[in-house]
Amino acid sequence: MPLPKTLLQKYPAINFVETGTFQGEGVVFASQYDYKAIHSIEADFNMARDAKDKFRDYPRVNIWQGKSENVLPSVIEHLQGSITFWLDAHMESNLTATNCPILKELACITPLLTDRKVNVLIDDWRLMSTDLREKILLYVSKLLGKVKSGFEDTHIASADIFWFTYRP
Ligand SMILES: C[S@@+](CC[C@H](N)C(=O)[O-])C[C@H]1O[C@@H](n2cnc3c(N)ncnc32)[C@H](O)[C@@H]1O
Repeated sequence: MPLPKTLLQKYPAINFVETGTFQGEGVVFASQYDYKAIHSIEADFNMARDAKDKFRDYPRVNIWQGKSENVLPSVIEHLQGSITFWLDAHMESNLTATNCPILKELACITPLLTDRKVNVLIDDWRLMSTDLREKILLYVSKLLGKVKSGFEDTHIASADIFWFTYRP
């Protein structure tokens, strides 16, 4: 689902990282804001190729091809400063821990949660199994008082985006 247009204003950061480029709507929205760098990761070869072509004249935009859980560490490695993550690399109707990369993506993000501000926005809460939701909430609860969390609405469903922000 596309990123709600005004949502990024609420979670400012120096960098923007998206998983699941699809047709690039999230990148277009992010491009309206003054991120130093915008990174988007797409597993599908043809979609990634089309997105690279679409954004070839956007100097801040970097499209990566590959599975988010494999590519995220390389993307994150060279980023300085705060990051807003838009985790949207899934399309299945019933998202579980085995068919959705969210938990692996969070594991990639975890090493960042030391000395910088990180915003994480997770799309499609309505599609997630109870088990997956519980695992995400458990992950956040272990961040011991350094996070705030909540939900945001989309035009498809209320409370469909689960977010948390980490402040060192
Ligand atoms: C819901 S769409 C993304 C929509 C887009 N973020 C937006 O805001 O318009 C999901 C995309 O994730 C891609 N995808 C699925 N699994 C992935 C993975 N493990 N890593 C990266 N991309 C993945 C799919 O090919 C699809 O293009």
